[in-house]
Amino acid sequence: MLKTISTFPALALLIADTPALFDRLYRYEWYRSPLTDWLDALKVGENAKLLELGCGPGNFARDIASKGIDVTAMDRSDNMIKKAASGNGAVEFLVGDATQTGLGTEQFDFVLSSSLINVVPDGKQLLVEVARVLKSGGAASVLFPTPKFDSEHAERIIADYRCGVFAAGALRLWASKARKLDPQDVCDSFEDCGFGPASVSLFLNGGLAAVTGTKKSA
Ligand SMILES: C[S@@+](CC[C@H](N)C(=O)[O-])C[C@H]1O[C@@H](n2cnc3c(N)ncnc32)[C@H](O)[C@@H]1O
Repeated sequence: MLKTISTFPALALLIADTPALFDRLYRYEWYRSPLTDWLDALKVGENAKLLELGCGPGNFARDIASKGIDVTAMDRSDNMIKKAASGNGAVEFLVGDATQTGLGTEQFDFVLSSSLINVVPDGKQLLVEVARVLKSGGAASVLFPTPKFDSEHAERIIADYRCGVFAAGALRLWASKARKLDPQDVCDSFEDCGFGPASVSLFLNGGLAAVTGTKKSA
């Protein structure tokens, strides 16, 4: 019961001001470090053209741009992009639907999305659009919660990171509400959508997975 009540502050912020919730989450190490570890593992070169889809309030996109990477970031929510564009950093923020971006074909060296493929109704529709905007030989990587991210897993992270009340509630809410995907199913979808064999990397003790694939040449 107390654990359920602990989710209320994060839930209230999610309802009242979603951009503020994701902005706050990015300040927590348990939320931010899987994203930055994921980016480091991808070894994106300086001056690469990178698109982030479902960028939320833009904190991660700004961190990517601070490494000299040329970042475009899109979210379908006006409020998210308003918040994103109010921050510093050389990112082009756009309002748009990640499954139908309206961007030119073969524009990007990398396309990333965090907690989007498990949110859109049809993950394959997203991957087809990602493949369209990627240059041949470019790479796409999607990060999402796995079935391992259950309530016990959330409690272990809360203990490991000594989370305070708000962060603990947010983690419990995430574990209970997020749609989880099997990494192997996501690898199969990559291969169905024009990518070569995809690979899996795990973060947050296996609670999050990144699937990465390279677009096949035409
Ligand atoms: C769970 S949040 C993740 C935000 C951020 N990527 C992160 O990891 O903290 C999902 C984001 O995807 C956006 N979104 C959902 N469906 C979308 C779509 N079809 N096209 C673009 N953005 C979308 C939402 O507005 C929201 O900002």
